[in-house]
Amino acid sequence: MRIAFCCTDHKPEPWLAGLRAALPEADFFVWTPGAPAADHAIVWSPPQQFIDEQPGLRTLFNIGAGVDALLKLRLPPGLQVVRLDDAGMAVQMAEYVCHAVIRHFREFDVYEADAAQARWSFRKPRARAEFPVGLLGLGVLGSRVAQALAQFEFPVKGWSRTPRAVDGVECFHGAGQLDAFLAASRVLVCLLPLTPDTAGILNRAHLARLQPGGYVINVARGGHLVEEDLLALLDEGHLAGATLDVFRQEPLPLEHPFWRHPKVTVTPHTSARTLRDESIAQIARKIGALSRGEPIAGLVDRGRGY
Ligand SMILES: NC(=O)c1ccc[n+]([C@@H]2O[C@H](COP(=O)([O-])OP(=O)(O)OC[C@H]3O[C@@H](n4cnc5c(N)ncnc54)[C@H](OP(=O)(O)O)[C@@H]3O)[C@@H](O)[C@H]2O)c1
Repeated sequence: MRIAFCCTDHKPEPWLAGLRAALPEADFFVWTPGAPAADHAIVWSPPQQFIDEQPGLRTLFNIGAGVDALLKLRLPPGLQVVRLDDAGMAVQMAEYVCHAVIRHFREFDVYEADAAQARWSFRKPRARAEFPVGLLGLGVLGSRVAQALAQFEFPVKGWSRTPRAVDGVECFHGAGQLDAFLAASRVLVCLLPLTPDTAGILNRAHLARLQPGGYVINVARGGHLVEEDLLALLDEGHLAGATLDVFRQEPLPLEHPFWRHPKVTVTPHTSARTLRDESIAQIARKIGALSRGEPIAGLVDRGRGY
C-alpha cells in the first residue's frame, strides 16, 4: 500500500516518522511532481496538480476538520474524502470558546484594563440567565463546546441542519428555525462548516436578531462572517463585542480595522490546532479499518459540502 504525503505548511519528516511507526506495512512518501501512483494520500491544501497526477487515489485524508478548501479542487467522482474528527481539537475548541464567553460575561477584559491603571474597582455581577449562548453547528466540535458551556451553567442553544439532541442544550434545526434560535441567543458562536449554504451566515440580518448586547465568536471560517456588517453593528451599539479567530484574508492584513477595534479580540486561527500524534493515530486506525473493509467515521459527503 502506497501513501502520499502532500501537506502545504507542514514539515513532512515528523509526520512520516510517526506514520511509518504506526503503519510499518505501508510505503509512505512525500509527493513531488511526477511521483508514482499512491493508493491513499494525507493532505492539507494540496495543489490541483497533485490531484490531476494521481487519478488512482482512493482516499484523501485531510489533516483538519474543515474541507472547504479541498472541495474547491476538481476531484474525481469516486475519490473519498475523510476529515479529522476531533483528534484532540474538540477540547481545545471548548477551552477557547469557554474562555471567550467567560471573559466577556465576567468582564475580565475590563478588569485587565483597570489593573493596567492600578485601579481597584468592582463591576456589578451579571446574571448568567441573561447570557444565553447559541451555537451554530452541533457537530463534533459544537456538541463538545455545548457540553463545556452547560457545565458553567450558561443557558445553551444549538442549531444544526438536521434535528440533534444534546444533553442540556435547547436544539433548533433547519432554515425555518434559524430566526427563533438567534432570538433566543445573546452570545453567538459559529462552528459550522463553510459550504454554499453557510457562507456569509454571520450577516447584518442574522446578527441583528441577537438579543441586545449580543456578542459574536467566530471559530469556524472567515467566509461565514460579513466583516462590514459586524463592524457596523458594533459601532451602532447593537453588538457589545466579538472574538474572532478566522478571517476572510489570513494572515489578517496589518491595516484591517479588527486589529485596533476596541470591541474586537483577534487571535491568529489558533482556536483548535491539528495535533500531530493524535492525527497520525486516527489516520492510521482509519487506513487499517479501510483495508479490512470496515466502515470509518469522518467520511465527507461531497454533495453536502461537509
Ligand atoms: N478555527 C479553527 O482552528 C478550526 C479548527 C477546526 C475546525 N474548524 C471549523 O469548524 C467546523 C466544524 O467542525 P466539526 O468537526 O464540528 O464539523 P461537523 O462535525 O461536520 O459538524 C458540523 C455541524 O454544522 C451543522 N451544519 C452544517 N451545515 C448546516 C446548515 N446548512 N444549516 C445548519 N447547520 C448546518 C451540521 O448539522 P448536522 O448535525 O445536521 O449535520 C453539524 O451539526 C469545520 O468545518 C471547520 O471549518 C475551525
